[in-house]
Amino acid sequence: MVFSFMFMEEIRPLLLLLGYQLSEPSSPHFGIWMSDNLVGKGGYAEVYRGILQDGQAIAVKRLSKSSSNERKEKEFLTEIGTLGHVCHPNVSSLLGCCIDNGLYIIFQFSSRGSVASLLHDENLPAMDWKTRFRIAVGTARGLHYLHKGCPRRIIHRDIKASNILLTANFEPQISDFGLAKWLPSQWTHHSIVPIEGTFGCSTHLAPEYFMHGVVDEKTDVFAFGVFLLEIISGKKPVDGSHQSLHSWAKPLLKQGETEELVDPRLEGAYNADQLSRLAFAASLCIRASSTWRPTMSEVTARYFNYRKRC
Ligand SMILES: Nc1ncnc2c1ncn2[C@@H]1O[C@H](COP(=O)(O)OP(=O)(O)O)[C@@H](O)[C@H]1O
Ligand SMILES: [Mg+2]
Repeated sequence: MVFSFMFMEEIRPLLLLLGYQLSEPSSPHFGIWMSDNLVGKGGYAEVYRGILQDGQAIAVKRLSKSSSNERKEKEFLTEIGTLGHVCHPNVSSLLGCCIDNGLYIIFQFSSRGSVASLLHDENLPAMDWKTRFRIAVGTARGLHYLHKGCPRRIIHRDIKASNILLTANFEPQISDFGLAKWLPSQWTHHSIVPIEGTFGCSTHLAPEYFMHGVVDEKTDVFAFGVFLLEIISGKKPVDGSHQSLHSWAKPLLKQGETEELVDPRLEGAYNADQLSRLAFAASLCIRASSTWRPTMSEVTARYFNYRKRC
């Protein structure tokens, strides 16, 4: 099956709402995607690779037919609403959307797929240290921007390796804003209690979120800490051993045995200074009490001041 969309020249900050039957094949922004080009499947959507007339690759996210209930639709619309407000090199770029004949969101295509797929695919060579560090720094910057740098506070609520995508040159981009929450900027100290809707992946959930449904920026900070451990160790947050990644890593971090955390597939090829910075940041981010966790501003300034220190 072939579908088509049309894009307007300048879509920001306006979102384009066009049905595929309105598109004109002669327009330079006419695009097609094929239903057999499936590149990813998440909790409530399928993602396909498409191409515009001018050659630009796009990702088309379609609400799964099987998940057409009201809550899923709400999450889908939340994603469009939130992404319409953000613009940062480390956050997925929204190109357009379509609400005709189904719900579709159109993004720039991240050709390297997700961090999860690259990190855990045993048929691929181990991801090198430089790339891992770059992903950690870029994701921290993107998250700092969501919390502090955009017009409203945005709490992502689902930071994990399958939601961090990679561009052709391995720049990480935070994606999947279906569970995200926007807060008015004047609510500088508000947490949301209780939280409605779905919880993110339980292995990345901060204790206060898991137990009481309380969410604020520090909930994302916790998930970011788990993500750092995943990048360092190459281990999945759940691996069938019934022990979470952060409870495995905590004693090693406490005893300063950071080299024990490192992915054995790297065979010792890592930068020790960068490792100690990532491990220290992870140990602070996964603290049980949210008040003891750093903010993303602190993480980026103190531990990931990449340009200054490298
Ligand atoms: N812009 C994109 N470019 C390339 N692949 C993508 C893109 N967006 C999503 N994907 C792929 O689709 C998967 C699911 O997308 P996601 O937005 O996380 O959906 P869900 O909300 O259902 O989890 C991702 O893990 C990734 O592999
Ligand atoms: Mg996802």
